[in-house]
Amino acid sequence: MTNTIDRSDLLDWAHHEHEHLTKLFDDLRATFNKIAVGELEGAQREEALDQAVDDLEGALEDMLEHFNEEEEVYFLAIEARFPEFAEQIENLTSTHEKLCERTRRLQRLLATREQDLSEMSGELIALINALTLSLERHNEEEQQVFVMALKRLPEDERIALLDAKKSLG
Ligand SMILES: [Fe+2]
Ligand SMILES: [Fe+2]
Repeated sequence: MTNTIDRSDLLDWAHHEHEHLTKLFDDLRATFNKIAVGELEGAQREEALDQAVDDLEGALEDMLEHFNEEEEVYFLAIEARFPEFAEQIENLTSTHEKLCERTRRLQRLLATREQDLSEMSGELIALINALTLSLERHNEEEQQVFVMALKRLPEDERIALLDAKKSLG
């Protein structure tokens, strides 16, 4: 994914990753809304639901990997170099936890879908909508911190950060 981006440009990396995650959750939101309003029926609905469950798992994995890279590499580096960002970094980290918890709640809710999806569709839609919105808000807040902090880092330090991120695997 980062191959098409200048290796020193962490802002582009973050922006690209945020767009990727936003799209994953937007697509899931669209699918769940379609299912909830009864737009899909029978086998088509079951298929869409199974696919959405798989996609949600993939989205959570990508999100966890992204958050981990931010916390282990960028947040640590920003805090070490610019302590004035400590409070914002702390808020961003706690939002990571909330977003993961909401995603897991959604997974748990879907695990009961065999019983009756219509019963829980209100809660399901509220949850996916809230999740997508909080992710978008989080990305915007984080991007602001990155813009302010990373731009102040010299290029060699930005390259070192990107290498550190890659070495996380
Ligand atoms: Fe983040
Ligand atoms: Fe992020």
